[in-house]
Amino acid sequence: MISALGFSRFNTNDEEWATRRAITQERYLAAAKPAHEQSVSDIFNVGLASCETSLAGIQQALFAGAMTIFYQAFGLVAEARPTAVLLDRVRDVLRRLQYYSWVTPTNDERNGAIHDARAIIADFGSQLMTDPRAAAEMNRFSNQAAGIDNFSPIEEFVMNLFAGVETTVTTVQWVIDRLGANPQVQDRIHEEIAGNKAQTPFTDCFINETMRYFPPIPFLTREASADTVIDGARLRAGQLVMLSVVGVHQHPEFWENPRTFDASRKEFIDNSFDRRAFIPFLTGPRMCGGARLGRLEVEQAVRAVVRQFAFARTDDIIRFDYALALRPAGGMSVTVSRR
Ligand code: HEM
Repeated sequence: MISALGFSRFNTNDEEWATRRAITQERYLAAAKPAHEQSVSDIFNVGLASCETSLAGIQQALFAGAMTIFYQAFGLVAEARPTAVLLDRVRDVLRRLQYYSWVTPTNDERNGAIHDARAIIADFGSQLMTDPRAAAEMNRFSNQAAGIDNFSPIEEFVMNLFAGVETTVTTVQWVIDRLGANPQVQDRIHEEIAGNKAQTPFTDCFINETMRYFPPIPFLTREASADTVIDGARLRAGQLVMLSVVGVHQHPEFWENPRTFDASRKEFIDNSFDRRAFIPFLTGPRMCGGARLGRLEVEQAVRAVVRQFAFARTDDIIRFDYALALRPAGGMSVTVSRR
């Protein structure tokens, strides 16, 4: 059903996937180079310095920062407002599409959701193409994809944008959520970051534990391309398989007390965790194309957030919302103050 929003490297295979991947991949690797660390840091620091002192204000600044970084990877300048509106509209339609993939919709419901998804992408495309640099970049996308029938550069761009922005911001939102719930941990992380040390092992561990416990993409689906048997389970070609990232991240064979959120988790502090059991960016050839950039952004955004704000929670109830990613639900009981 997600294909209703468009086709991109996400929902293609083999040669077509390799062609689509080549359009964006070098850009992501270049943007994640250590030389860009300072500019990524500056983008989040500046945005957060002038935002409203509230969760909503911080969230907006994080979105604007992640969009700026995404657009910059393609030599473009983000139009924060229309892009934020696009994301809100997409979240709404995706929630419906996801529901319909579990509960069969009527034809009218299905067609309505597909119609709305297409309208959103079309609106975004016409707005994007008003910028001549973006139009030139979309032209490059099309030239590189010359062999693909009905290729839409806008769909490719938009799907990549969702992948890059929503996941990154969501991760930082979960870090904020957990900082609010753990005042002593928050003090320790603030001390580590404010000390401007080159190594921040406790902060790194905290980010990892947050991604283990709240992976922004909690599960994935794959389609068996041929009849096969995996671990005794027989699969027929065309069958859908759901992979639980949460399940892997809470597997008792790999983690001690997997159901506990442990800010100083031994497996991360000692760097002894099994790489197969920590897959927030997935693994294998189809793993996240922006994993390095995403990691860089999350690290710099968390530093900027912790330097500038303190958080407190009145309760420790985990509430979440699932649309493009698994994110903390709006209206959480977190209070924000500027440091
Ligand atoms: C903390 C941040 C991020 C997380 C947790 C994350 C997670 C993931 C996961 C789990 C997938 C696999 C999805 C699937 O196969 O259905 C994926 C794919 C992808 N992600 Fe990310 N991502 C993050 C940041 C980014 C960023 C910053 C970008 C680009 C700027 C990006 C671009 C992509 C792309 C293009 C794919 C498709 C890979 C392919 O099949 O070719 N992601 N991501």
